[in-house]
Amino acid sequence: MKSCPILNIINVKAIYIRGHKGSLSSTNLKDIALQFRPSSLNWEELKMALRGVLLLLFGVLLCVNVHGFQAVPVGGNGTLQVGYYWRTCPQAERIVKEEVAKAVFSNYGLAAGLVRLHFHDCFVKGCDGSVLIDSTSNNVAEKDAPPNNPSLRGFEVIDNAKARLESLCSGVVSCADILAFAARDSVQFSGGFPYKVPAGRKDGLISHANETISLPPPTSNLSQLTQMFANKGLSQGEMITLSGAHTIGRSHCSSFSKRLYNFSSTVSQDPSLDPIYASQLKLQCPNSNISANSTVSMDPRTPILMDTSYYSGILAHRGLFTSDQTLLSNSSTAALVQQNARNWWLFQRKFVAAIIKMGQIDVLTGSQGEIRANCRRIN
Ligand code: HEM
Ligand SMILES: *[C@@H]1O[C@H](CO)[C@@H](O)[C@H](O)[C@H]1NC(C)=O
Ligand SMILES: *[C@@H]1O[C@H](CO)[C@@H](O)[C@H](O)[C@H]1NC(C)=O
Ligand SMILES: *[C@@H]1O[C@H](CO)[C@@H](O)[C@H](O)[C@H]1NC(C)=O
Ligand SMILES: *[C@@H]1O[C@H](CO)[C@@H](O)[C@H](O)[C@H]1NC(C)=O
Ligand SMILES: *[C@@H]1O[C@H](CO)[C@@H](O)[C@H](O)[C@H]1NC(C)=O
Ligand SMILES: *[C@@H]1O[C@H](CO)[C@@H](O)[C@H](O)[C@H]1NC(C)=O
Repeated sequence: MKSCPILNIINVKAIYIRGHKGSLSSTNLKDIALQFRPSSLNWEELKMALRGVLLLLFGVLLCVNVHGFQAVPVGGNGTLQVGYYWRTCPQAERIVKEEVAKAVFSNYGLAAGLVRLHFHDCFVKGCDGSVLIDSTSNNVAEKDAPPNNPSLRGFEVIDNAKARLESLCSGVVSCADILAFAARDSVQFSGGFPYKVPAGRKDGLISHANETISLPPPTSNLSQLTQMFANKGLSQGEMITLSGAHTIGRSHCSSFSKRLYNFSSTVSQDPSLDPIYASQLKLQCPNSNISANSTVSMDPRTPILMDTSYYSGILAHRGLFTSDQTLLSNSSTAALVQQNARNWWLFQRKFVAAIIKMGQIDVLTGSQGEIRANCRRIN
């Protein structure tokens, strides 16, 4: 138990909800909790934070858990399997979790970065680690295409895990699996549900910048989003649930500045954006300085928590991207936004199911692909 990395994370969470100390004069949990809150959090937000802490405690139990081994059939010539490395490299998942914990402990944003890395891997040529490949003198790789560069982050976390795994069990654990494990750990460290990752992906041999056209841009409308997810075998409902990942992390101003300053030929500001929120965003993203590296939290209320405030934000017309706010534009998708906003447990369950499904898009298995020795290079 002592080496369980999640214990470190709990300290981070404790700092997050720590306030000025008061005396415990009440036995009412709510009163006690309110005494310790940072003054900026109201009771609803505090409840969310406390729920995150409880889930992290649950995560500690997982450290001593035995993994199950059920197989999951996938499209390729093999199957993905929970506990895939239990004989060939039994420490694999623990080592990835340690590296993710170490990284997230020093920079919470890396949890968001790793979840997005997994998404961008899976949507471009399947979950084959192609997003991790570096460009060479005769090839511009995926990671250097505009949707990925300069916004993707977390590559070093994968490199560190890979280096340890190569010295422990050389040539066994694929980069695509490391990324899928790291995304899972990141969800869990952000207060989302823990889940088992079916593994056995092989690494791809190709990474071309032009293939990133299958990634939806933040300007997408509802029919475009629905179509791009359908192209990957994911339903409209799963698209809405996976978009809930925007409850953690950041965005560069350039991803939404058009909504603030240059929306259309008739209005400069997107009318579907709450004007108060828009004015806050304008302060963080001044028009004069849009090309700079400045970023904003996508869910400013609870930027590091995997909660449902992404959806309540959309209901309040505070979705950051056109692609977020557009989920309210159709009555059936709006109903799902409301459902996710209201039902935290249901959202977490649906999110886990959807990200496991996303993790199986066009995977290479069996004799396909390779196990890269260095996640940045084809062998
Ligand atoms: C529905 C279509 C989606 C669009 C249009 C979209 C677009 C974007 C954009 C433009 C950013 C900001 C990048 C930047 O400027 O720094 C972003 C961030 C992010 N996205 Fe998405 N995304 C979508 C779906 C998803 C999905 C399915 C996931 C994962 C399950 C995801 C996870 C994230 C995360 C965690 C971040 C924060 C990254 C960080 O803090 O480094 N997104 N997304
Ligand atoms: C991207 O470029 C490669 C080689 O330059 C080509 O084989 C591939 O078909 C292109 N893909 C798309 C989606 O345009
Ligand atoms: C979504 O965008 C596409 C491409 O710009 C456009 O053809 C389509 O009409 C739009 N759909 C809606 C519902 O606005
Ligand atoms: C606004 O957008 C149009 C078309 O996208 C572009 O030509 C123009 O330069 C933009 N104006 C500003 C002030 O950014
Ligand atoms: C933006 O970030 C990149 C990479 O981190 C850096 O090279 C560049 O100097 C930064 N630009 C500004 C304006 O801060
Ligand atoms: C522009 O943005 C950069 C990076 O966020 C910041 O350091 C700089 O102070 C900004 N410049 C102005 C004029 O606002
Ligand atoms: C909303 O989306 C559903 C599912 O894509 C579609 O069947 C329906 O026609 C859309 N409704 C409206 C009002 O656009």
